[in-house]
Amino acid sequence: MSNTAAETSAMAHDKIVILTGAGISAESGLGTFRDEGGLWAQHRIEDVATPEGFHRNPDLVHDFYNARRVQAAEARANAAHKALATLEQDHPGEVIIVTQNVDGLHEQAGSKNVLHMHGRLDGALCAACDHRWEAPDRMHKADRCPKCSHQSTRPDIVWFGEIPYFMDVIWDHLDSADLFVAIGTSGEVYPAAAFVQEAQRAGAHTIELNLAPSSRVSDFAETCFGPATEIVPRWVEQELKR
Ligand code: APR
Repeated sequence: MSNTAAETSAMAHDKIVILTGAGISAESGLGTFRDEGGLWAQHRIEDVATPEGFHRNPDLVHDFYNARRVQAAEARANAAHKALATLEQDHPGEVIIVTQNVDGLHEQAGSKNVLHMHGRLDGALCAACDHRWEAPDRMHKADRCPKCSHQSTRPDIVWFGEIPYFMDVIWDHLDSADLFVAIGTSGEVYPAAAFVQEAQRAGAHTIELNLAPSSRVSDFAETCFGPATEIVPRWVEQELKR
């Protein structure tokens, strides 16, 4: 006999899968994409976040990511990142963070089980030999790959039209989740926007923690709205009391 939503919500959750988006890093001073004045109001996606844009003007794309890399390196993890690190440490079951973010603030807060499905600003990739290394503060089109010496280096970021990282692992985590929580994401970009339905199909309870209702809000069994630094620590405290 299946549990009611209220019974499921009240049950302790063994495996918790958390999806985070730019909203969790907003209070650390890093811009989101689709809020008022966000990154996609300042730059055209097709110019700075597609392989075609990089091929057309690599300097423009390197400048875009160099500026974000320097800003992210100066940012500090906020109370929401830290609360998720506490959850991973103190929750008896498994806690997995799947992040769309390319900053390193989850790791800075102490989270260990983090999957960066859109890559990371502190990563560099060689388009010729697929070698990956730690990115310098500023990358340039004339940089040579440390392994094959080709001038074919790029930020290790997943652009629009490219396949996000770790998808097989992520689908497996969603299929075995007891609880799926989306934090700070507008639910505008797939495949991440479909995760809530996948988790629901697996029987997971689903919660949206966001500043405002996302495009997928009606897919969630439970919602709470407010700044992440307020609602995420409160949710973690409740979850750890179960
Ligand atoms: N606390 C909680 N949520 C917040 C806060 C905050 N302080 N500030 C903003 N938000 C919410 C917004 O309401 C919005 O729903 O964060 C969400 C940010 O949405 P987007 O800017 O679309 O960012 P995201 O969902 O991460 O974008 C997904 O799109 O362009 C691609 O690769 C990019 O990874 C990114 C993906």
